Amino acid sequence: MVKPPLSMKPTGWFQVAWSDEIGVGDVVKMKYFDQEMVGWRAESGQLTVMNAYCEHLGAHLGYGGKVVGEVLQCPFHGWQWSSEGRNVCIPYQDRPNRGRRIRTYPVAERNDSVYIWHDVDRREPFFDPPDVFAAFRDDSSADGYHPQQRLYRAGLELHPQYVLENGVDFAHFKFVHNTPIVPVFTRHDFGGLVSFVDFTITFEGDDGQKIEDVNSGVEAINGGLGIAVTKSWGMIDNRTISAVTPVDEFTSDVRFMVYIGRMPGKDPDRAQRKAAEFGREVIRQFEQDIEIWQHQRYSDPPALATDEYAGFTAIRKWAKQFYPEAFATQEGLRQ
Ligand code: FES
Ligand SMILES: [Fe+2]
Repeated sequence: MVKPPLSMKPTGWFQVAWSDEIGVGDVVKMKYFDQEMVGWRAESGQLTVMNAYCEHLGAHLGYGGKVVGEVLQCPFHGWQWSSEGRNVCIPYQDRPNRGRRIRTYPVAERNDSVYIWHDVDRREPFFDPPDVFAAFRDDSSADGYHPQQRLYRAGLELHPQYVLENGVDFAHFKFVHNTPIVPVFTRHDFGGLVSFVDFTITFEGDDGQKIEDVNSGVEAINGGLGIAVTKSWGMIDNRTISAVTPVDEFTSDVRFMVYIGRMPGKDPDRAQRKAAEFGREVIRQFEQDIEIWQHQRYSDPPALATDEYAGFTAIRKWAKQFYPEAFATQEGLRQ
């Protein structure tokens, strides 16, 4: 087991579930950022993600906690907690404990995902999680796509940054994904909290073709370290979301989602089958990456080829802003 030298407590939006996994009245146990947590959905539909332990005597709310209207009731002595993590009722006392609060996390639901905002300094969110349609400003929406196809791999020994670096790693495409020629990057924009990477790529033809003649590519948007969305052009219309969330100091959960574009006029059953097949192929390619990432040891500083410098330097510098300085110092002291 190789512990990543990068902090496993970065700041940003991270996926902790899919929306349909937490129905009204459900209380779901989860562990992220070394914290036991619960996700629960109130009768109104409001979703809360909070630390799992009751502030009274410490029962785990994921084992028998019950949604009662808009609050979560502890299984031990029936104290009730609101979606702000406040105690609103002690059943055997006429007033609640107003002082104690269970830590809650800002939550966003989009593209069928549940994202939480994590920040060790507990700052409020300072950017939005990217939407796989709206982020590309092209009037697309889920209506134009077949239902989302998913991959979920829990507890892999990898860090979110490994997955992002894949986006500037032009040389791996030929070896890991068997593209006939090496893709070429047309945009690297690491100026903000959300970064943009575009490249020309083809999965067709032979290795004799010239990249200038290729008419297909991918645009990628990285919303911090936790979520990346992509849009393809010039090939079967597909969008993807990759989301990597640290579980503890060693492991992360990986979720990957694919949408295949609907094609008007096609026989719906056949179109559905084809879309499922193509979605599986996109997922298979992502699994080829996972096979590398989960056994990788982060190389720092890496040995780079000349053409790799610009991309890797830019993305690693960009990534630094998501690591809390305090934490980086502690890490430094420990080594
Ligand atoms: S431990 Fe939760 S109510 Fe007592
Ligand atoms: Fe890859």
